[in-house]
Amino acid sequence: MELTITRPDDWHLHLRDGDMLKAVLPETARDFGRAIIMPNLVPPVVTGADATAYRARIHAAMPEGADFEPLMTLYLTEATDPDDVEAAAASGLITAVKLYPAGATTNSASGVRSIDAVMPVLERMAAIGLPLCVHGEVTDHDIDIFDREAVFIDTKLDPLRRRLPELRVIMEHVTTRDGVEYVKSAESGLGATITTHHLMINRNHILVGGIKPHYYCLPVAKREEHRLALRAAATSGDARFFLGTDSAPHTDPNKESACGCAGVFSATNTMSCLAHVFEEEGALDRLEAFASLNGPAFYGLAPNPGTITLRKGEAVPYPAKLDTGEGPVTLFDPGHPLHWRVV
Ligand code: NCD
Ligand code: ZN
Repeated sequence: MELTITRPDDWHLHLRDGDMLKAVLPETARDFGRAIIMPNLVPPVVTGADATAYRARIHAAMPEGADFEPLMTLYLTEATDPDDVEAAAASGLITAVKLYPAGATTNSASGVRSIDAVMPVLERMAAIGLPLCVHGEVTDHDIDIFDREAVFIDTKLDPLRRRLPELRVIMEHVTTRDGVEYVKSAESGLGATITTHHLMINRNHILVGGIKPHYYCLPVAKREEHRLALRAAATSGDARFFLGTDSAPHTDPNKESACGCAGVFSATNTMSCLAHVFEEEGALDRLEAFASLNGPAFYGLAPNPGTITLRKGEAVPYPAKLDTGEGPVTLFDPGHPLHWRVV
């Protein structure tokens, strides 16, 4: 069996820098036409000048003959200058700005503490039509980690959208039924990315039979009912939902540690995983909408010109790890064989 779709994009990707960038970039550039590049480097990509320099490093790391465009983002801080953001958008350098609540996840210390402090930037973005990508979790110590997305929607995101309805917002890596319902309740201006792994694992995968650090990411995988809501949304064809893998490489020593890093590395086998999921849901005809069409439509871009073909056959022999100059990175393992491969 074969399936040919418009070349997909990844609307949420961590490429890192240096040797890690060199090792992981080809894994995405092989199947994907474009990706929204997360700015949470150390130090973060805050200004237009930072993004120009980072984009040049990505281009320098590009494999021969690659047909891949990094779509740059800026990391929103309380010191971000609205004029710098507008200039970066006007020149075509950036495609979005990313809001991390301070302390929410990996390298988010310079994120936002108070929405009030960034309102001038958000107002400018609304005026020029530049989308905001949001890591939608509160960071309050008294809020349970499994509730942080739902509480963020009620206490931060919904008030912000009421205050600034013209701002286009993407709820990144939505992980709950609450998130799906909230996105569906919005008439316009709100979309959501869904990761590969949140369609395939729930919290049992992380915690039952011994702790599995390679399934730990943020937002953390939730109960099965939430995974099912994500699968229904992703496979529905609803244009508000699109692929953002959140492929986030960390080396094995950094994952397999007393305080392991959050992040799942799924760039290599995402299209095999997605074909598996969409086939299970009887929705192979909607894989193209999720992976290749809905994202560009939300961002106001054309779909990629090319196509990729997936073929179903023998189990695909993915390696367990990717070697990088910084150490091995374990690939996302859905826990069963994958039979679809990009040919
Ligand atoms: C991401 C990372 O490692 O940069 N980790 C993750 O678990 N998703 C950060 C993020 O997107 O939250
Ligand atoms: Zn991420």
